[in-house]
Amino acid sequence: MNIILLGPPGAGKGTQSAGLVERHAMVQLSTGDMLRAAVKAQTPVGLKAKAVMDAGELVSDEIVADLIDAELAAMDAGTGAIFDGYPRTASQAETLDGILSKHGRTLDHVIELGVDIDALVERITGRFSCANCGALYHDTANPPASEGVCDSCGHTEFKRRPDDNEETVRTRMAVYRGETAPILPGYEARGIVTRVDGMAGITDVANAIDAVLA
Ligand code: AP5
Ligand code: MG
Repeated sequence: MNIILLGPPGAGKGTQSAGLVERHAMVQLSTGDMLRAAVKAQTPVGLKAKAVMDAGELVSDEIVADLIDAELAAMDAGTGAIFDGYPRTASQAETLDGILSKHGRTLDHVIELGVDIDALVERITGRFSCANCGALYHDTANPPASEGVCDSCGHTEFKRRPDDNEETVRTRMAVYRGETAPILPGYEARGIVTRVDGMAGITDVANAIDAVLA
């Protein structure tokens, strides 16, 4: 099973990917997470990507295609992939078709997380994650069960993303509207898009996604 989770910044792609990994033993391929890891490790890709990401713009199609290709090459052919934050442009969508066929895979579902744009700034500015395992939280919607302690690993340090400020979020939204939303009609024409209500609670969204995959 190969699926794309599509939605604007803060739609819940990362949150829902984590659930899918747990429930269905799929692998999350988040280009955002891969790029943040490259920035942290100060690799040549990371050094190139940092300023672009901090501004909320898109890094080059080649960089992300190489990251995705390398991850799929390292994966067992029978393991399902969740594409989180990829593709994001018409050109990336076309490239993904080529990469998937190279690895003997086909796209089964594109799940569009439908969200109210006004709620997203609040979601993103309230987001934080565990500094150790990366588990995602939100100040009010999804805090750890015990304050200051990660539910997943028990670590007590957390971090916030440098691009999670209101100004950059607005740029990221505009990029989504201008570059990413236009790839949906192509997938709709293939009959593989399902829209899920991303404004529902995290568990309800997860149940709706599971219903699509069943
Ligand atoms: P990326 O990391 O992909 O960021 P994004 O697309 O902006 O999406 P986010 O990660 O912000 O949101 P999300 O949908 O994962 O939401 P989350 O689950 O965290 O990309 C970052 C940057 O990298 C880009 O700007 C670009 O520069 C670069 N990049 C990445 N991919 C690229 C590509 N393919 N091409 C070029 N450049 C690329 O949820 C958000 C918050 O809401 C959390 O706090 C969560 O707890 C909470 N929440 C989640 N679901 C719910 C719910 N149902 N109800 C209430 N709260 C919820
Ligand atoms: Mg994310």
